[in-house]
Amino acid sequence: MSDEDRVRWDRRYADRGSVTVDDVALPAVFQPFAQEFPTAGRALDLACGGGGAAVWLAQRGMDVWAVDVSPVAIAQARELAEQCGVAAHCHFEVCDLDHGLPSGLSADVVICNMFRDSRLDRSVIERLSPGGLLAVSALSEVGASPGPFRVTSGELRQAYRALEVIATEEAHGQAWLLARAGPDDSPAPR
Ligand SMILES: C[S@@+](CC[C@H](N)C(=O)[O-])C[C@H]1O[C@@H](n2cnc3c(N)ncnc32)[C@H](O)[C@@H]1O
Repeated sequence: MSDEDRVRWDRRYADRGSVTVDDVALPAVFQPFAQEFPTAGRALDLACGGGGAAVWLAQRGMDVWAVDVSPVAIAQARELAEQCGVAAHCHFEVCDLDHGLPSGLSADVVICNMFRDSRLDRSVIERLSPGGLLAVSALSEVGASPGPFRVTSGELRQAYRALEVIATEEAHGQAWLLARAGPDDSPAPR
């Protein structure tokens, strides 16, 4: 990512001000499926922003590794985890996903909310543990005008076709997908 873009994200988080416990939440589109999320194991949050979802996962019982390119966002996420008493279960790191997924252990949950880089699709699938849960959302062209950061119709379903889809939707300019890896190393049914 260019320095200019990083500064833009930093400024956006700085302008938002301090984080509070009210920021802790599973992204709204996944909330009806909260019970699908495990209460133990490892989670990976990609482009975690201020850490609201990461801290939610940690409060649920998971150990969370969360990354974002913005140092300001990561500082806020660390502060939120401290406030919520789950800092010991969260590891927040500044990381530019333009360089790919950082290597690490398999994850029982991978969440990537409102960030899309199709170059990561394969490594995201490979990072999931057997039976692991994937929760992704992005801006969409469906119900909105085409744009450089918007997924096309059916893009998420196609990208993650190796997984078993639990639920997915594209409407009003947002696409999201909740899916599960197969029970073992073999590809899930298509
Ligand atoms: C729309 S926000 C979503 C944040 C968070 N997932 C949420 O739901 O609130 C997009 C996030 O992507 C991060 N981001 C953008 N480009 C990135 C990159 N190349 N590597 C890592 N994070 C990036 C931004 O800093 C920002 O926090």
